[in-house]
Amino acid sequence: MNLKEILKKIKPDEKEEKDMKSLINELLKVAKENEEIYPMICGSVSKDTWLSNKNEIDLFLIFNPMVSKKKLEEDGLRIAKNIVSKLKGKYTIAYSEHPYLRASIKWKERTYQIDIVPAYNIEDPEKIKSAVDRTPHHVRFIKQNLKNTDDVRLLKQFCIANKIYGADVKTQGFSGYLCELLILYFKDFNNLVKNASKWRAGVIITFDKTLDQNFILNKFKTPLIVIDPIDKNRNVSAAVSTEVFYRFVKTCKEFVDRPRKDFFFPPKAKPYSISKISNEMERRGTKWHMIKFKKPDVTEDILYPQMRRFVNTLEKIFNENDFKVLRKDFWINDECIVLFEMKNWIVPKIDKKIGPSVYSKHAENFLKHYKNKNIFIENNKWVVEVERKFSESTSLLQSILKKTQKELMESGVPSKIAPLLQKSQLLIDRDIIKAISSLPEDFRVFMKEWFEKNLNIV
Ligand code: UTP
Ligand code: MN
Ligand code: MN
Repeated sequence: MNLKEILKKIKPDEKEEKDMKSLINELLKVAKENEEIYPMICGSVSKDTWLSNKNEIDLFLIFNPMVSKKKLEEDGLRIAKNIVSKLKGKYTIAYSEHPYLRASIKWKERTYQIDIVPAYNIEDPEKIKSAVDRTPHHVRFIKQNLKNTDDVRLLKQFCIANKIYGADVKTQGFSGYLCELLILYFKDFNNLVKNASKWRAGVIITFDKTLDQNFILNKFKTPLIVIDPIDKNRNVSAAVSTEVFYRFVKTCKEFVDRPRKDFFFPPKAKPYSISKISNEMERRGTKWHMIKFKKPDVTEDILYPQMRRFVNTLEKIFNENDFKVLRKDFWINDECIVLFEMKNWIVPKIDKKIGPSVYSKHAENFLKHYKNKNIFIENNKWVVEVERKFSESTSLLQSILKKTQKELMESGVPSKIAPLLQKSQLLIDRDIIKAISSLPEDFRVFMKEWFEKNLNIV
């Protein structure tokens, strides 16, 4: 396999480069009409690490740090809107730490996405006012230090193909800047991948050899720690989850063992057939619960963390009632689906609670509290038999889903999900199989991944 061939497909050609440059010049020209700011192109386009057909520009509007936060937000948006209207584009307002504009502009037979971000000009990167103020420092650092930009492109494409590109809360993966630093550190793509194929959680990468490793390990608790060369208090790979880290390690290992094009351009995943899913479910002998509900009208940045929290809340409630979960996950498309595979779904109607020692001063209270129950002694402790409310996980779930919005939120169900549960559907075992036939094919890809999930890296 030849990496040059991959590069040919992902590196912008002369024409694309020329069109991009001309739009950038136009943007800078229009932006410079505002005396209050100076414009700076801050994304991968300025670092020469952008991918063909990405058509995305990060335009920063840099303000004097004396300007108040409120004024920066107001004027930033106003100037940004002005730039967009002069180039006849459309926009939406997006939020990270403060609002910025996400514009779409037609230019030479392509549509470009322009992120217009107001930020402060702060000389010392350790004294920034908001996270975006670091970005201009990142750009200068990469421009000065990174030569091998083509291998960053390879790494980005490798991550995209394996669905781990992006530090957003949905992906929990590798940002563009992280890719740049990894190539800078390991010199080239092949060397990075060779090293990463042997990584185990607790990898530290720092450009400053004087930093103390123990200080770093105590300060940052992520599987991969990459100390920002412009700010030692920041971990550039803070967003990378443990699962994504090991998915990267495993993919690198597979690539080293047998390099091939598929790692950059993966063939479309083949979904499981319904009968295969049905057979697998039966073979595992587990019990399956599916909750299906309307997708709330919120951004992915809100929905994904809320879905993760919802799944964890339900598992906690299962545990409190002595039911045990084997696996759990969720899937989002036009609707939201939460899936639980249970390892323990029936418990006896009778439960026993172990009370205080017979010598304890709390013993009398315990006896009074349970005076209508059968009580006995085990190992010098009072023990009581009580009836459970739920002896099947199904009926527990049914009762949860019938709760009011207020009750749900009190039990820890996130705010955007709670209002949708009254109209949700609860499906069990065979009903799930039936429901799958009316779900998009992607759900059967999700089930394939469920059954084949394997992060074995030895
Ligand atoms: P991007 O996500 O566009 O990354 O953010 P990139 O380096 O240009 O890579 P690709 O090729 O587009 O994927 C550009 C810079 O702007 C900052 C990021 O930290 C990054 O350094 N940024 C952007 C923010 O900090 N906040 C935002 O809301 C947007
Ligand atoms: Mn970008
Ligand atoms: Mn961007």
